[in-house]
Amino acid sequence: MGKKFFDYIIHGGDYNPDQWIRTPEIWDEDMRLMKLAHINSATIGIFSWATLEPEEGVYNFEWLDTILDKMHENGISAILATPSGARPAWLAEKYPEVLRVDENGIRNKFGERHNHCLTSPVYREKVRNINRKLAERYKNHPAVKMWHISNEYSGECHCELCRASFRDWLKEYYHNDIDELNFKWWNGFWSHTLNNFDQINPPCVRGESNTTGLYLAWKRFITDSHISFFENEIAPLREITPDIPVTTNFMRRYNGIDYQKFASHVDLVSWDNYPAWDKGRNQKEALEAAFLHDFFRSIKNGQPFFLMESTPSLVNWHGVNKLPKSGMHELASIQAIAHGADSVQYFQWRKGRGGDEKFHGAVVDHCGHENTRVFRNVTSLGKKLEKLTCTVGTETKSKVAVIYDWENGWAVSSFCGYNNIHRDYVEECIKWYAPFYKRGISVDIISMSDDFSKYDVVVAPFLYMLKDGTEERIEEYVRNGGNFVSTYLLGLVDSDDRCMLGGFPAGKLKEVFGIWCEETDSLPEDMPGKAEFGGKTYEINHICDIIHAKGAEILGEYKSDFYSGLPCVTKNIFGKGKAYYAAFRNDGDFADDFCKMLVCTNPIAPDANIAHDDGVFLRKRGENIFVMNFADNEKEIVLDKEYTNIITNEPACGKITLPVCGYVILK
Ligand code: GLA
Ligand code: ZN
Repeated sequence: MGKKFFDYIIHGGDYNPDQWIRTPEIWDEDMRLMKLAHINSATIGIFSWATLEPEEGVYNFEWLDTILDKMHENGISAILATPSGARPAWLAEKYPEVLRVDENGIRNKFGERHNHCLTSPVYREKVRNINRKLAERYKNHPAVKMWHISNEYSGECHCELCRASFRDWLKEYYHNDIDELNFKWWNGFWSHTLNNFDQINPPCVRGESNTTGLYLAWKRFITDSHISFFENEIAPLREITPDIPVTTNFMRRYNGIDYQKFASHVDLVSWDNYPAWDKGRNQKEALEAAFLHDFFRSIKNGQPFFLMESTPSLVNWHGVNKLPKSGMHELASIQAIAHGADSVQYFQWRKGRGGDEKFHGAVVDHCGHENTRVFRNVTSLGKKLEKLTCTVGTETKSKVAVIYDWENGWAVSSFCGYNNIHRDYVEECIKWYAPFYKRGISVDIISMSDDFSKYDVVVAPFLYMLKDGTEERIEEYVRNGGNFVSTYLLGLVDSDDRCMLGGFPAGKLKEVFGIWCEETDSLPEDMPGKAEFGGKTYEINHICDIIHAKGAEILGEYKSDFYSGLPCVTKNIFGKGKAYYAAFRNDGDFADDFCKMLVCTNPIAPDANIAHDDGVFLRKRGENIFVMNFADNEKEIVLDKEYTNIITNEPACGKITLPVCGYVILK
């Protein structure tokens, strides 16, 4: 059993009663409608600073008192936000240093949100102050159950304060030794040798934008700045409300902050998921959502997480905002639960009358009543969630891990060479995750620094960077009996993006994999090469390593270009384990066929033996098995034994037809 913050599934979302302060009768209507929709929680005050503190030092908490009391009376728990995601106008006017500065040194004017300076002592103090006021006032309020810190931390600031802080950070990271930094960033190149730390500026187009060592350091610094900003925010909360857990909502596919590092600072991971459903690619969207759910589950040791935001209907920020069909929202929410979520929450409860998000989907539309399709869908889900209390706090045990390492992602996106056009690390990781998910085999998404020993198989797509110790840990894992799968461009650089010497893959990995990579070829889009594996021919898309077997068994060969006949897939027995190398990129079936071979030769059991077709995904969480149909047509599944359907509480066996968007949860 993992960590449990509630005994039931949280069903709620962003609630902005302060926008309706002129019409408090709406607040009562909100309470009635929330209960009707089986909503049991609301996240409140996310952008309320200007209402809470309309002038410096003048506070207005009465509206929040009223709302929290009403919520409590109606059995709705509050996730109380700190308001630092957007500041009041008076604060920006009086203390311009709180406003973010862009890379060209231009300071923002007041406006928008998520754009404060990360270093400004004034902003940090003002945030601490308002957070302290909130904590003191509501520490004993029975509705308040969790803190939602700020909103979607993101971006960077290039002001003088942040620059100075970056230089201090570099001094610490490089042991106050400019020679060490020069060597690690290879600054002899283009005469970039620095005399002192004060000469360093953050990466920018009008300054230095090609030194990848600088780029990586800046990314690490920005992550640390967000963490330190967060720690500053929560200091008064930890002091005054030590028993109320804190979370901050992470974003889908946002690469600006290392969430693998940030996760240890929150009590509970939460994230915002907005797939583009019903635009003709639901299975792809479902795969990506599954991968991201597993990622956010894995960054805190497999602990359950919160789905802090999702839309009950459409968003307003896609180019074309498609309405998902009824059933889609319920299926997507159930998928989150299957992967470890203990909540389904929305942006947002009620559509605002104005502002940029007035046409964003919400549970309650501008019509204001409950007789809408979306409201009915949300209500139907709310009732089902009440039957899934038994899933709360439960975990998933995976025997397979895919390495999706945040810092490697930064490194992969920034180096110049080989194929500079077609390079998408996340897509590669999802590609190697998909074959397991399709087979009902659960997967953890880990960093290269996580423990490999608990897995039967570790797959490392495009592991270009190796941090200190990674090489040795891969060696040890394979030696002790693990199956390690790597794809092209393995182990080229260290954590400062400096190439390894002595041939690729780095160091001992040549021995572990039994190969040597002599060259890497990049292929124009309209000139894919050919590779053969298991009697089937595959396209080489965009990139391939030209490798030589030095002890490895050859499982596949190139069939094109001057390297025709050289190995493209290898397997090496090393110690008690096996190291596989897939030297080329293929955007078709290769990863799937390779995994089929892998799970046959190294038996890995699916989560349950329930026969299902493509488009149907299966996941076990705790004792419950979720089978979900994301295909565009109905699908039949075949159960291997008798189960209980935990929503209907009826026995289930034999063949079951899942309609479009249908699912069953079995025990
Ligand atoms: C983000 C934000 C919300 C809202 C939604 C809209 O996730 O956190 O405040 O803007 O997007 O989709
Ligand atoms: Zn700044």
